[in-house]
Amino acid sequence: MLKARVAVLVSGGGTNLQALIDAQKAGQMNSCELTLVVSSKPDAFALTRAAEAGIPTAVVDIKSFTDRSEFEKKLLEVLCENIIDMIVLAGFMYVLSRDFVSSYLEKIVNVHPSLIPAFCGDGFYGLRVHKAVLDYGVKVTGATVHYVNEITDGGKIILQKAVEVKDTDTPESLQQRVMREAEWVILPKACEIVARRILNEKETERET
Ligand code: GAR
Repeated sequence: MLKARVAVLVSGGGTNLQALIDAQKAGQMNSCELTLVVSSKPDAFALTRAAEAGIPTAVVDIKSFTDRSEFEKKLLEVLCENIIDMIVLAGFMYVLSRDFVSSYLEKIVNVHPSLIPAFCGDGFYGLRVHKAVLDYGVKVTGATVHYVNEITDGGKIILQKAVEVKDTDTPESLQQRVMREAEWVILPKACEIVARRILNEKETERET
């Protein structure tokens, strides 16, 4: 069966990447294949997770580029070489430009650790999101998987899942619960939904 070739872009620990690897192994993502993991940091633990799962890796070290467009040019080159159909941003700590996004329109998804449109946009990433949630005092947070467009965290929403905030939560405990109860659950499902859509479009193109 034809599968969409997925590149997962990472910068850190890669627990969301691990959720994708586990879902693939469990047969829950049959429309896609984790083809490549690209890290913007050479020491990201996500690279070890990929290697252990036998997925090819590449490093496009953001620090070795003075120019943002050169970084993205290299990234695109690596993705094209690997004939990538779809991109998953899983803890990728870099905001892609409008030009980059237009090369993979409706084919890039991102996981964000809040219920968009709350606690998202520029400056909201990682633990900062959970700290803002606790400072504000909201009682429900969660995670969102959405398409990536030129607006930070602004693309169409694919899936969301709510998580209860507890009085005793710290940013760290909340981050862990949001990951376990929401991010790791909805990311593989969203990945499968988008991959299926991409495959259907390919099929229609072939028939016309
Ligand atoms: C995840 O919580 C992800 O939602 C968040 O960074 C963490 C990466 O963890 N992403 C953002 O905040 C993007 N705005 P991981 O490397 O263990 O998957």
